[in-house]
Amino acid sequence: MTDRLILTLGILGGTGKEGSGLAYRWAKAGYHIIIGSRTLEKAQRAAQAVNERLGREVAAGMLNEDAARLCDIAVLTVPYSAHRATLEALKDKLQGKVLVDVTVPLKPPEVWVVNVPEAGSASMEAQQILGEGVQVVAAFQNISHEHLLDDHPVPCDVLVCGNSEAAREQVLQLAAAADLTGWDAGPLQNAVVAEGLTSVLIGINRRYKMRGAGIRITGEQQPPVD
Ligand SMILES: NC(=O)c1ccc[n+]([C@@H]2O[C@H](COP(=O)([O-])OP(=O)(O)OC[C@H]3O[C@@H](n4cnc5c(N)ncnc54)[C@H](OP(=O)(O)O)[C@@H]3O)[C@@H](O)[C@H]2O)c1
Repeated sequence: MTDRLILTLGILGGTGKEGSGLAYRWAKAGYHIIIGSRTLEKAQRAAQAVNERLGREVAAGMLNEDAARLCDIAVLTVPYSAHRATLEALKDKLQGKVLVDVTVPLKPPEVWVVNVPEAGSASMEAQQILGEGVQVVAAFQNISHEHLLDDHPVPCDVLVCGNSEAAREQVLQLAAAADLTGWDAGPLQNAVVAEGLTSVLIGINRRYKMRGAGIRITGEQQPPVD
């Protein structure tokens, strides 16, 4: 198995708010990062910002298609309006890989109202588009970018949904590497809840004038029974 420290993460649309924050956290943890973009120069600038902040060359900028082709695990951070077209264009490059879908199917202008796509969720739509050759895992939709570029602990947990237990485990490791608490939240069908929660959190931010509202799983873990 490949060592976690040398895995290459391809962040598709990684020049934006959420993608650049995740890229920074994973680069800091020792992953190799490819920031993907529709524009090479924009990707290179975003990668350079990460490298300069960390003082080492851990991130490279490439076109999305090269990022998708060269990465071990892909992470999709584009607006929902670009979700289908981006996935259709990258489908061939992603076969055999895990795709972490961070997309929230927001429907502007009322982004605080939950929008459920016809497929059931954005990530189920991704699975339909990409086919069974790609393991789609939905995660990080509730983590506001406002926290990711800071070095403080993020006051929000990560719900990880996907149909492959092994793929969910890989993404739980990514959450831990980003200094986040992840929870195995079951099959991809459950991602509708995580995606929908983001609209609820956006509404709470707006109504209570909060910055980066999040969620925590509470409860007491029982000791194992022999
Ligand atoms: N922002 C947050 O706090 C947050 C939190 C949780 C989840 N999310 C979700 O994460 C995703 C990204 O959010 P964001 O705030 O980072 O978005 P963003 O900054 O608006 O956009 C991210 C990147 O997507 C690419 N993009 C924009 N329009 C595109 C198009 N028409 N076709 C292809 N690529 C396009 C752009 O990259 P290039 O121009 O370089 O190609 C852009 O830098 C969204 O689905 C959002 O709901 C965001």
